[in-house]
Amino acid sequence: MKAMRNRPIGEALLAAWLAVAPQVMRAATPAEIEKKIDALFVKMTVEEKLGQMSQALFGDLSDGRKEEIRRGRWGSFFGGGTAAQKAEAQHIALQESRLGIPLIYGEDVIHGKNTTFPIPLGQAASWDPELVRQAARVAAQETAATGTHWTFSPMMDIARDPRWGRIAEGFGEDPVLASRMAVAMVRGYQGDSLEAADSIAACAKHYAGYGAAEGGRDYNSTWIPENLLRDLYLAPFQASREAGVATYMSAFNDLNGVPASANAFILRQILRDEWKFDGFVVSDYTAIAELIPHGYAADSADAALKGIRGGVDMEMVSTDYWDHGKELIASKQLDPKLLDEAVRNILRIKFQLGLFDAKGRQPPAGAAPPTAAALETARKLAAESLVLLKNQNGALPLAQSVGTLAVIGPLADSPRDQLGTWANGPADTAITPLTALREALGASRVVYAPGLKNSRDESHDEFSLAVGLARRADAVVLFLGEEAALSGEASSRAYLDLPGAQEALVNEVAQTGKPVIVVIMAGRPLTFHNAAAKAGAVLYAWHSGTIGGPAIADVILGKAAPSGRLPVTFPRTVGQVPIYYNHLNTGRPPSETGPEAQDKFRWKYLDVSFTPEYPFGFGLSYTTFSYGNTTVSAPQMRVGGSLTVSAEVANTGGVEADEVVQLYIRELAASISRPVRELKDFRRVHLKPGEKQTVTFTLESSELEFHKGAQLVSEPGLFQVWVAPDSSAGLRGQFELVR
Ligand code: NOJ
Repeated sequence: MKAMRNRPIGEALLAAWLAVAPQVMRAATPAEIEKKIDALFVKMTVEEKLGQMSQALFGDLSDGRKEEIRRGRWGSFFGGGTAAQKAEAQHIALQESRLGIPLIYGEDVIHGKNTTFPIPLGQAASWDPELVRQAARVAAQETAATGTHWTFSPMMDIARDPRWGRIAEGFGEDPVLASRMAVAMVRGYQGDSLEAADSIAACAKHYAGYGAAEGGRDYNSTWIPENLLRDLYLAPFQASREAGVATYMSAFNDLNGVPASANAFILRQILRDEWKFDGFVVSDYTAIAELIPHGYAADSADAALKGIRGGVDMEMVSTDYWDHGKELIASKQLDPKLLDEAVRNILRIKFQLGLFDAKGRQPPAGAAPPTAAALETARKLAAESLVLLKNQNGALPLAQSVGTLAVIGPLADSPRDQLGTWANGPADTAITPLTALREALGASRVVYAPGLKNSRDESHDEFSLAVGLARRADAVVLFLGEEAALSGEASSRAYLDLPGAQEALVNEVAQTGKPVIVVIMAGRPLTFHNAAAKAGAVLYAWHSGTIGGPAIADVILGKAAPSGRLPVTFPRTVGQVPIYYNHLNTGRPPSETGPEAQDKFRWKYLDVSFTPEYPFGFGLSYTTFSYGNTTVSAPQMRVGGSLTVSAEVANTGGVEADEVVQLYIRELAASISRPVRELKDFRRVHLKPGEKQTVTFTLESSELEFHKGAQLVSEPGLFQVWVAPDSSAGLRGQFELVR
């Protein structure tokens, strides 16, 4: 692995910093912070307030920019800049601006800084919030060392549509799983105290409903009824609020006719009045100026007015607030109290982060290469994110004694692509599956041909070389999928197939008759029915980050058992989308068995099954698990009470491994139709061959509540409950909720 260069702060600057660094540091209480804000406030001009509400790309630290910082033109910068440049700008803000208000630096650290962890969707596939927290902690430490105080993460947009490229950045389709992951990341970034030198502020984004983009087309409008908004889309945002997230980012999309970035219903009524959030809200990139093309603001002044009134405290990149704030106040269109509230929210977080004190004044250490511990966390998380989807006759793991292995495919040795969307870490530190397999088996036993230049390559020119290698090998591992640029922002797709000529490559390689293992690396659920049919085993690897190659090699060679589970439903074809497990039933539920299976007038398609290719929660192991003895502790639960649900889970195979035990419920009748299943809890358990464990979940009646409009209600009635290996299986019990 190549060493990354440290970028130390200049000596002179360091001396200047130390000279002004306060001697005694102590965390301020909330009341002390409000007093400090009051003291600043009496001195602040309208311009200085508008400056605090403005965020720009860092760009060059030119003389002009330095002058702007002295004038208090900007409250925040994001993206770019070396640690030394950021320190210099901060020094100017603290020492040379009239009020000495520090800047807050943001950055898109989405799944790691120098150490790239799996994409968030892959992290969600681990179903291991504690490990996700540890990864976010590493990301915070590496980020803080570069002088950045705030990450625009976690993204917690629930997504039911894999066409949407940003599904890669979130935690999938389920509100409970996404909430656990979001909270884990918030805790990891923010640590025990925001003020600690290695803590950074988190940002819950994109608030709200962004993942419901119609047609999976990025930035698209959304129509979400209030009960669904609150039960599903807002759940991780509310959980993050409870976990103390410092900031929110308002989304690009229009939500029920009002752009999210001017939507007082979600930003003021829900976030402030109901959830009592007292940090700040930043707009997404130029989202305030975009109120105009949305058809919600007539011009830039109107956009500023509606953004501030709507509840967005800080404007990212566009400059409507700065350009018109003063005139809007002078003309009495804008209540100055709204401006003051926004600025107070921003200053509160700057104080909580300690930017006026030690953290603002001490020079950042500068970027450093990933530590061994960081890489170990990355390897563990990558390994736990891998989902085994098919394993016919124990095709995997490959025996270490396999003679010659042909490694084929455009993703086998593509370091940049394996990092995924929003990768900050350098590609040259990534270890690819090819490198890892060569290391594990010895270079002479691994032959390699990509077959295609990249995942989109349509040419068959290099097929013959690849097929020739396959013919001479004992087994083939095909690394297929999508390059990084095909998922993430502005990367929606109308087709979910393996792009380029990958299907044709699979067909030709399979014709050799050699055992074929398919590994798919992608930022979204793809449809790959044909490839799976031709392979003995399919391993879904997402984009697994810096150390993804060794993690994949470990699983292929049986040094680790796969234990990831799908955080999102995989469709058979794009025509089934949206398809998700926690759907409502219809009056005509379909069936795969019995006389109903022949009934045409059911809720299904003529040309494809109604079931998904792989259900939510699904994933195989190298062992087998059995579930038995589902027990509900009482036939009834009182509203306000709780009961336990348990099952015996046994490792019935020959390999020690983790199982992710999942708890689902269904309320059979209510005043609003309820989903056919809802995940309520899950637990990763480790079992040796032959070992059996009773897994017990406590279910509180509050977990059975749902929204009727704004109201959270408990409705007595009959509940089914499953302890299950995935959303389509499991043993059922039942209980009744009573008053
Ligand atoms: C736009 C993206 O939607 C958002 O997620 C990101 O944080 C900002 N750009 C800043 O880069």
